[in-house]
Amino acid sequence: MRPALVRVYALAATVYTAFASPALEHRASGICTLSASGSDDAPAFLASASDASCSTITIPSGTTLSIRSKMNMTGLTGKHINLQGTIKFNPDLDYWTDNAFTFDFQDQTAFWLLGGKNLLLDGGGTLDGSGQAWYDEFAKDDSVVRPILLTLFQATNVTVQNINMINGPEWINFVNEGQDVTFRNITISAVSTSKNAAKNTDGWDIFRSDNVVIEDSTINNGDDCVSFKPNSTNILVSNLSCNGSHGISVGSLGQYAGEYDIVQNVLATNIRMSNAQNGARIKAWAGKNVGSGIVKNITFTGFVETNVDNPVVIDQCYETSDSDCAKYPSNTYIQDIWFDDISGTSSGKEKAVVASLSCSPDGRCSNVNVNGITVTPPSKYGDASFECQNVELSGDDASLFGTCDTTD
Ligand SMILES: *[C@@H]1O[C@H](CO)[C@@H](O)[C@H](O)[C@H]1NC(C)=O
Ligand SMILES: *[C@@H]1O[C@H](CO)[C@@H](O)[C@H](O)[C@H]1NC(C)=O
Ligand SMILES: *[C@@H]1O[C@H](CO)[C@@H](O)[C@H](O)[C@H]1NC(C)=O
Ligand SMILES: *[C@@H]1O[C@H](CO)[C@@H](O)[C@H](O)[C@H]1NC(C)=O
Ligand SMILES: *[C@@H]1O[C@H](CO)[C@@H](O)[C@H](O)[C@H]1NC(C)=O
Ligand SMILES: *[C@@H]1O[C@H](CO)[C@@H](O)[C@H](O)[C@H]1NC(C)=O
Ligand SMILES: *[C@@H]1O[C@H](CO)[C@@H](O)[C@H](O)[C@H]1NC(C)=O
Repeated sequence: MRPALVRVYALAATVYTAFASPALEHRASGICTLSASGSDDAPAFLASASDASCSTITIPSGTTLSIRSKMNMTGLTGKHINLQGTIKFNPDLDYWTDNAFTFDFQDQTAFWLLGGKNLLLDGGGTLDGSGQAWYDEFAKDDSVVRPILLTLFQATNVTVQNINMINGPEWINFVNEGQDVTFRNITISAVSTSKNAAKNTDGWDIFRSDNVVIEDSTINNGDDCVSFKPNSTNILVSNLSCNGSHGISVGSLGQYAGEYDIVQNVLATNIRMSNAQNGARIKAWAGKNVGSGIVKNITFTGFVETNVDNPVVIDQCYETSDSDCAKYPSNTYIQDIWFDDISGTSSGKEKAVVASLSCSPDGRCSNVNVNGITVTPPSKYGDASFECQNVELSGDDASLFGTCDTTD
């Protein structure tokens, strides 16, 4: 046996140690292992990512990397990040406020951009966003911009699986300009331990991305469980348990004047939605000076809801007064929608109402199908009631809604 190969990279006073035993196996296996340096581990992590000889980057169980500077890890090819330990983003609010990556879209920022092709992030470990300091600061000053925990930027054929994501300061996962991306067996927990809620902690936001799968995951958070933002196409969301969220949401869309937003071919199936503001939801802007777009071929099926305020929702007058919505109907058309097999209980926040399908006038919502909506309100409100406005409804349960063609 030859002695273990130990490579030490001295980079801005940080080291990463890559070793294997014996030496030749290191080259053959391409495994590089990171250890905690005691200071910022971002430079070593970045160095391992750009080192062509590291096809696998291992963060061992028991190791916590401290990330104190932003990481642009885009343009990678064929890397496996085997995260058994923890990647923890240091809560230096001043640093991140000045230095995080920025996106024009909804003024988002990010700690870490991961992108490129044929990537795998797995290992059973944890991404920790140190969110509590952010939740507390945001409660004092809502102009604080909080970074996204994991951003897949220009990612193609990327799988993220068997990872825990905790304490994200704001959105947990952002898929921006991705293609063929899969998330599987992810556990998300964004919960505040103080009186200040973990706001805007969306589980996933998909944007300008095609062919995305999110499956077999558990989410405990304080905003959308999954949100399909502009230009999300061919999306499968399956077998999720969402707790405390704002639901599985299309949109909001058509917000920005001059922009055209598309959400098309989405299937959300086998979803357990508990203690949530919404279950299955589509929201689009109306009013003066907004954008336009299309929401087409969306199926929500097999939802089991518990204690949900608005179990089934279309709101095509999002953030718009009734009078403005009548005057300036939404330019985001909604077509070919299925709400099938939605069961469970509402919270009673909307009294007996368990489904509300509210569209702009003039046929902007068409071919909306309702089948097997059996959600019940708390018994004190009596039988479930169903509301609709300006929507062409079909399906077994269409008659529960009565006529939907009024314009008031
Ligand atoms: C990230 O790095 C790539 C080069 O690897 C560069 O082209 C790109 O502009 C960087 N992105 C940001 C946001 O810094
Ligand atoms: C996708 O990436 C995986 C590595 O995660 C690789 O094994 C597979 O061959 C890639 N698929 C394609 C079509 O390139
Ligand atoms: C899911 O991920 C956890 C680690 O977070 C792991 O222990 C478990 O084995 C994974 N489940 C499957 C089915 O791979
Ligand atoms: C659903 O996801 C859970 C993890 O949240 C997993 O344990 C279970 O096996 C999955 N069910 C199916 C049918 O894949
Ligand atoms: C689910 O969410 C509710 C409301 O946010 C919370 O009180 C409860 O502790 C959560 N349950 C679990 C299992 O985390
Ligand atoms: C969405 O895609 C359409 C068609 O390609 C394009 O015109 C539009 O600018 C895109 N919108 C966004 C927000 O990227
Ligand atoms: C509708 O979307 C589903 C994915 O949810 C897809 O399988 C199907 O082909 C789409 N239908 C049309 C007509 O594009």
